[in-house]
Amino acid sequence: MLVIAGSASPDLAQSVSERLNCGLVKPELTKFPDGELHLKIPVDLEGEHVVIVQSTPYPQNDNFMELLLLLDTVEDLGAKEVAAIVPYFAYARQDKRFEPGEAVTMQTMLKLIESTEPDRLLTVDVHEEKSIKGTKIPAKNLHAMPLVGKWLFSLNLKNPLLLGPDRGAQDYAEQAAGSLGADYDYLFKKRKSPTEVSMEPKSLDVEGRDVVILDDIISTGGTVIEALELLKKHNARKIYAGCTHAVLAGNALDRILEAGAEGVFATDTIETEISKMSVAPIIADTIAE
Ligand code: R5P
Repeated sequence: MLVIAGSASPDLAQSVSERLNCGLVKPELTKFPDGELHLKIPVDLEGEHVVIVQSTPYPQNDNFMELLLLLDTVEDLGAKEVAAIVPYFAYARQDKRFEPGEAVTMQTMLKLIESTEPDRLLTVDVHEEKSIKGTKIPAKNLHAMPLVGKWLFSLNLKNPLLLGPDRGAQDYAEQAAGSLGADYDYLFKKRKSPTEVSMEPKSLDVEGRDVVILDDIISTGGTVIEALELLKKHNARKIYAGCTHAVLAGNALDRILEAGAEGVFATDTIETEISKMSVAPIIADTIAE
């Protein structure tokens, strides 16, 4: 078995290969003067079981194109079995037509991946789990929050409450709370625009407690900041924010810290300065099953 590291996931791919005790291949990726990608995989893949690890954070389009090139090329070079690991699946939030005429980007991305015919697709905390049901290839969504919950022990939280900033994120809080042995709750969020959200008032048992806001994605930080403001009004003690995918658009991290977060953390589905825990074990263990 060989793990192939896409350029967006070098450290994660290495951790997966170490855990699987197999070789790691770093393809040569360059750009032509006009911006087109040039990819070369300088090893013999004939008859190999290949695991491609390539996340799709910003620049999403380049990272997606690289993923497609990797998938199609390993097939073309004779790999026997191909697993596509897309730890952060970009474009997944547009998983339906919210307004007439919109592109359903998740559907398009899945079709493109399917066209390269990998044997399986794994992703982590994809925005809507149901969006990968019904793909033509076996697809599985892995859950990172149990790992996050274990990592939370290192913060020595006081009487912690784990909080999903909206109803959908309640599952994340619940999964992490299961590992930590803590309480969980959720808020009611209303999205006004891609950058603006509001939180409905809610009675919360947070006075003097440490609270961790948990979500799948922190993008602009608007959701976390609104939740923070509400928690401060309810006299929470220390407030942390965590997520699976640290998209961190613009200066999101600075804004969250300025709003009073004690700390911000994420997994390595997107490799950033706040990646504190690795999803390598859940990926490798699923591959090894
Ligand atoms: C939306 O439903 C997601 O789960 C996240 O809450 C959202 O993507 C966070 O975005 P932002 O950080 O821009 O508020």
